[in-house]
Amino acid sequence: MKVRKAVIPAAGLGTRFLPATKALAKEMFPIIDKPTIQYIVEEAKKSGIEDILVVTGKGKRPIEDHFDSVPELEQNLEAKGKDELLRLVEETTDINLYFIRQSHPRGLGDAVLMAKDFVGDEPFAVMLGDDIMDDKVPLTKQLINRYEQTHASTLAVMKVPHDEVNKYGVIDPAAQTHPGLYDVKQFVEKPDVDKAPSDLAIIGRYLLTPEIFDMLETQKPGAGNEIQLTDAIDRLNKIQRVFAHEFKGQRYDVGYKFGYLKTSIEFGLAHPEVKADLTAYIKELAAKLK
Ligand code: G1P
Repeated sequence: MKVRKAVIPAAGLGTRFLPATKALAKEMFPIIDKPTIQYIVEEAKKSGIEDILVVTGKGKRPIEDHFDSVPELEQNLEAKGKDELLRLVEETTDINLYFIRQSHPRGLGDAVLMAKDFVGDEPFAVMLGDDIMDDKVPLTKQLINRYEQTHASTLAVMKVPHDEVNKYGVIDPAAQTHPGLYDVKQFVEKPDVDKAPSDLAIIGRYLLTPEIFDMLETQKPGAGNEIQLTDAIDRLNKIQRVFAHEFKGQRYDVGYKFGYLKTSIEFGLAHPEVKADLTAYIKELAAKLK
C-alpha cells in the first residue's frame, strides 16, 4: 500500500526555550526566514506524502495560520511585482494539512495515538519537528523505499556520541538484513549511558504500520512517566518485524539552544542573501577570539 500520510507531533511545551516559548510555538522559530516546521513539511512533500496531520496543543494556532493563505498579503506582493516573495508565500499552502489538539500532553506515544482515525488502516510516517534532515533522498522517502521492500515498520537511527544515548530511544541491533537495515532485538527509551545496548539512537523519523495503534492503546507509561512511542514499537516488534534504517545524511537538531544556533549559522552560510556577509563576519569574529 502506498504511503500517503504523515503525522507531525507538535504539542510539546518547548520548555528548553523558555521564556521564548511562553507565547510562541517552538515549531514557528525561524531558521533564517522559514519556521522549523516548514522544513519538516517540505521533506514530507518531497517524499510523496499527500496528507499531514499536525498534533497541536495550546498556543499552537500560528502553525495553522502559517500554512493558510493570506489574500491581502498576496495581493499586495502581486501589485508590487514581488514575484519571488509571492511564490514563497504561496508555496506554504500547497499541501493538505489537518490539525488535532491534544488537550493533555501525555507523551509522544499518546500524541501519535491521536492520529488513529486520520491514519486508518494505512502505513504512515511520523516526523518529529526537532530534527531537520538533509540528504540527496529525503529521509522520509528513504523509509518509504524500505517499507516498499519489506512491508514492515522501519525507524531511522543514527550513531550518536556514547555519553548522549540517554537522551534518545536506542536500539539493540541484530544482523543487518540489507546494508544499513538492521533487525532489532530491542528498543529502549532513554537508557542509562552504562546500560545502553548500542550507540544507535532513534532520530525523529518513523515509518509505522497501523498495528502500532493497538500497542499504543494499551501502552503503560514508561520513561518520564510518559506514554512512550519507543515502548509501543518494542511491543510491536514482538508480533511484527520492525527494522532500523541507518541514516547517513546530515541531521540538524534544533530542539536545544546550541543545536538551534548551529543550524541557523550553517543554513545562513548556505543562504544566498546572507552567506557573504555571514562568512565575513564569522572570520572577523574568529580572528578576535584567537
Ligand atoms: C523522542 C523519542 C526518542 C527519540 C527522540 C529523537 O524523544 O521519544 O525515542 O530518540 O525523540 O529526537 P524526545 O526528544 O521527545 O525526548
